[in-house]
Amino acid sequence: MADSKIKSASAASIAEAAKLLADGQLVGVPTETVYGLAADATNPAAVRKIFQAKGRPANNPLIMHVESALAARRWVRVDDPEWLADQWQRAATFWPGPLTVVVPRSGDVVDEVTAGAPTVAVRVPSHPVMRSLLAACDFPIAAPSANPSNYVSPTSAEHVRQGLGDKVAMILDGGECQCGLESTIIRLQSDGVELLRPGSISVEQLQAAFGAVIAARVTEKNTAAADAPSTNPPAAMPAPGMLAKHYSPTKPLRVVGSWQPEEIEPARVARISFAPLPRSEAASFGWYRSLSETGDLHEVARNLFTAIRQADATPCEWIVIDRCDRTGIGRAIMDRIDRASG
Ligand code: TXA
Ligand code: MG
Repeated sequence: MADSKIKSASAASIAEAAKLLADGQLVGVPTETVYGLAADATNPAAVRKIFQAKGRPANNPLIMHVESALAARRWVRVDDPEWLADQWQRAATFWPGPLTVVVPRSGDVVDEVTAGAPTVAVRVPSHPVMRSLLAACDFPIAAPSANPSNYVSPTSAEHVRQGLGDKVAMILDGGECQCGLESTIIRLQSDGVELLRPGSISVEQLQAAFGAVIAARVTEKNTAAADAPSTNPPAAMPAPGMLAKHYSPTKPLRVVGSWQPEEIEPARVARISFAPLPRSEAASFGWYRSLSETGDLHEVARNLFTAIRQADATPCEWIVIDRCDRTGIGRAIMDRIDRASG
């Protein structure tokens, strides 16, 4: 049901959200990827509220959202060496859009945003409401996905209300997110770009722009440390988005093929397919939803998290979902499904 905290995006509600942020409060905001839990990135107390509200480990840094690549310049150090300046230019060709770039930070960035790391993650979102909000604020916006830590990211204002409704001053409703998966995250390196999190900007697109795309250099130690909330933040994790267990529903989720029909009775399965299943097969499941009439993977990505939430809310005991090739957007889809089934 509609909640008084959810406000349709308008000039008035965007101005109100900007004022709440300037006052140090938290606001749920729409982006083209997923909804964000926003705070004034220059206000350490406001940024700390994000970690509290999500139950997020203090060593997991946040993305800083800025209005333009030019506006980002105050917060990053990308003028030299030359390879870095060059890669920054290439990254900026994806903005506004769902690409987050990890680069050396400037001294002006507050430590709470980067969890003490020497780098900062920045992105210029393309959602028109978020762009208007950034234009109305004279500060960058720190925002992780607006879900309690480890749950599925929100792709509607209603999802934000369900997970964090009592923790935010307002939720700005900008409709359902167009991409439906979190942004692609890369780190700029002298030997290419390191892929920290696949997203709607595909590896193929990155290869065309940057040449080499390197797999994330994450150690087991980092992964283990990331799970435990810390009171005295150790060094920030290099790529905490790479945690194996992440984005998980409450019920066990399995990929088709890893599930034997004789193991689990279909009536106890919430089944999510990428394209419509034959009617008789679909009818055998306790609950069923197809994410796209045509199996279009961008549509699958857009509808994935909503369907996982819906399946999670059914009385079924298991969620069983399709798989696809790990190319293009398929790579990000399978990454999220792997994590949800981890
Ligand atoms: O699409 C998105 O990126 C959404 C929208 C709201 O912009 N945001 C989002 O934020 O997904 P979050 O916090 O849920 O995921 C950001 C990831 C985290 O895994 C974090 O560890 C990583 O980015 N990250 C942030 N700063 C970093 C840094 N300096 N170095 C490496 N990873 C970083
Ligand atoms: Mg998140």
